[in-house]
Amino acid sequence: MKNYKNALTHPIFKVISEAAEELQVESYVIGGFVRDYILKRGEAKDIDIVAVGSGIQLAKKVTELLPGKPKVKVFKNFGTAMLRSNDIEIEFVGARKESYRQDSRKPIVEDGSLQDDQNRRDFTINALALSLNDKTFGDLLDPFDGLTDLEKKVIRTPLDPDITYSDDPLRMLRAIRFATQLNFKIEKESLKAISRNNKRIKIISKERITDELHKIMLAETPSTGFALLHKTGLLKLILPELTALEGIDEIEGQRHKDNFWHTLEVVDNISENTDDLWLRWAALLHDIGKAPTKKFHKKIGWTFHGHEFVGAKMVFRLFKRLRMPLNDKMKYVQKLVLMSSRPIAIVDKDVTDSAVRRLIFDAGEDIEDLMILCEADITTKNPKRFRKYHNNFKVVREKMKEVEERDQVRNFQPPVSGEEIMETFNIKPSREIGIIKETIKEAILEGEIPNEYEAARELMLKKGKELGLEVSTQ
Ligand code: CTP
Repeated sequence: MKNYKNALTHPIFKVISEAAEELQVESYVIGGFVRDYILKRGEAKDIDIVAVGSGIQLAKKVTELLPGKPKVKVFKNFGTAMLRSNDIEIEFVGARKESYRQDSRKPIVEDGSLQDDQNRRDFTINALALSLNDKTFGDLLDPFDGLTDLEKKVIRTPLDPDITYSDDPLRMLRAIRFATQLNFKIEKESLKAISRNNKRIKIISKERITDELHKIMLAETPSTGFALLHKTGLLKLILPELTALEGIDEIEGQRHKDNFWHTLEVVDNISENTDDLWLRWAALLHDIGKAPTKKFHKKIGWTFHGHEFVGAKMVFRLFKRLRMPLNDKMKYVQKLVLMSSRPIAIVDKDVTDSAVRRLIFDAGEDIEDLMILCEADITTKNPKRFRKYHNNFKVVREKMKEVEERDQVRNFQPPVSGEEIMETFNIKPSREIGIIKETIKEAILEGEIPNEYEAARELMLKKGKELGLEVSTQ
């Protein structure tokens, strides 16, 4: 029997052990805590405890023994209880046998033994339990040889995978998420079962689905997860906009790149440079407008005209469908998708000051993120081109620095306010004010005047005159 006493040095385990002893029930720590300890994944924040008896009663007893008696949150319907002690969240559940109904994730629950409870868990590596009972403290209970799976880096279900996944279809996403986070392989039969059961994902709430997608997205190499989602047919059910990008068409010898696999490369590239979830989402979605806008023209070949605009609109619908926030995060992703070709467009022409100024003005605070996205977008396998494209962006960045130092348009504030215009010409709010402000802004962005008060005021007076306004003498 392997013993992992050393995993249980946190004082809370002794307290739980004592409480269980008083109630004469067995208790075990199970799941992610044990898995992550063996994988040396760093300090755990969550602990899952199984009591062979009532989890709720055990939680209540534990709190009595703790200084400050932290509050126990009871979820009666689920037969679980939760408490927070300092930095750690502990969830208590009674060991159970479960069978699930076809149409829902809500199980029919019966009391069971530890082994019953381990049977109903998602993966062998998540069914590992350590005893908190006095005589066997720290002993590993591993009925499905999860330890070997941890060593071999395999995701496997304790029961027939068709049963485990069909019982709780969220587990299909969890399998892929763990494979991505831990760099594990999903066992062959398990992978097949996911493909067979993929349609059952529809009974899972959108919130839970996106929760897993976010975790995949935040892994070191998110493409691992998206490729598995694709292979098992889940991606088409969850993000059809992405799978629509797959494939290469050829007409008259002209081909375009496979925008699906390109996108996955972009996401991996960007993940080397940012941990920001939403910037990673922007990378995943930056080309989604390409499927609906794809056209072939005899003379110029394949085009995706306006795909950034169409893509930005699709972002809204996609976020809404997946119940992701429709707030500033969504707007940020939309903005990056909309602007995703702008830095390239500058390079294609000439990196003029005014083009760079407009880019900074339009991107504002997000200019750096936009550049990171564009650099990640370079996936050419031709080393010469790769260097050239990166170099082009280097030039853009240098120019940006120079222009921004001089003109500060990143957080552009009009140097002459609407109020000053009204006072100067003694006019009420009107169209003319908008025209004058726009003229000043345009002149600054075009580099016709510097971004300074004096120059802007002079232009205001000139434009006012053109519009037939008279300077107030009061
Ligand atoms: N579990 C399960 N089926 C699920 C969700 C969870 O069997 N759909 C079990 C697993 O044994 C899991 C434990 O419940 O280890 C705790 O679940 P959770 O806290 O969601 O995951 P962790 O394994 O702790 O991992 P992470 O914190 O990375 O999500």
